[in-house]
Amino acid sequence: MTKRITPLIVGNWKATPQTLDKALKFIKNLDKRYSNVKKKLPKKGYYLAVPDVFISKLSSVSIHGYIGAENVSGISLGQTTGATVPSQLLSGGATFTLIGHSEVRAQGETSDERAHKVALSLQSKLLTILCIGEHKRDKEGNYLAELEDDVKQSLSLVSRNLFTNLVIAYEPVWAIGGDTPATPQECFEVVIAIRRALSSLVGIDYAKKVHVLYGGTVTKENALSFIQDGGVDGLLIGRSSQDVSSFLHIITTCHG
Ligand code: PGA
Repeated sequence: MTKRITPLIVGNWKATPQTLDKALKFIKNLDKRYSNVKKKLPKKGYYLAVPDVFISKLSSVSIHGYIGAENVSGISLGQTTGATVPSQLLSGGATFTLIGHSEVRAQGETSDERAHKVALSLQSKLLTILCIGEHKRDKEGNYLAELEDDVKQSLSLVSRNLFTNLVIAYEPVWAIGGDTPATPQECFEVVIAIRRALSSLVGIDYAKKVHVLYGGTVTKENALSFIQDGGVDGLLIGRSSQDVSSFLHIITTCHG
């Protein structure tokens, strides 16, 4: 299968690294090595979702990447303690956000909250990466219908003209943080289901504008197979984005 677009390579730092100093060293090292790569790479060739408190500083030093948030609040600006809303993240230097990561869902995020987060984030002009994924697979394939429902519910408050800034990351929960990724074939069938759900929501022309990513135990060894055979337009990477060498390896291989 041929590649359609410049792949989106997105790292997810989760609750790492320990200090801003370590985060700055990582970005500077990554950018320096990125600049020295012999083959032609895009000026900005990676995305990194980082803890909120690092966004401002990292986005001002990063040369070759976009810095984003790992979550947003779906509430309006105002009297809510402890919430950071999308427009604040944008003004603090974020260009994108993850929403609905399974680790955020596990902390109690409801589908209603998720729908508000996605709508507000897209209205605020952040590139918005909605994460979906099944906990386990059943032989009858019911998980596909559940994933399609999740896409439809999470996007229920979004108007179709905002779909150009929407990305969906397929992250099977059973593949996150372990040692067994999905196969490119397993990924491919879900990509088709996601596209079917998007088409039924907004029609094929708008659905086509949405990039779909794969995430879950992506490594430098398997990264390219998802783009070549899994039908995705990029990757969402946890652990392998927390190490400069493996992240750079994935970036350069996928921008081949
Ligand atoms: P992993 O995490 O690559 O470490 O499996 C992926 C994710 O949680 O986004």
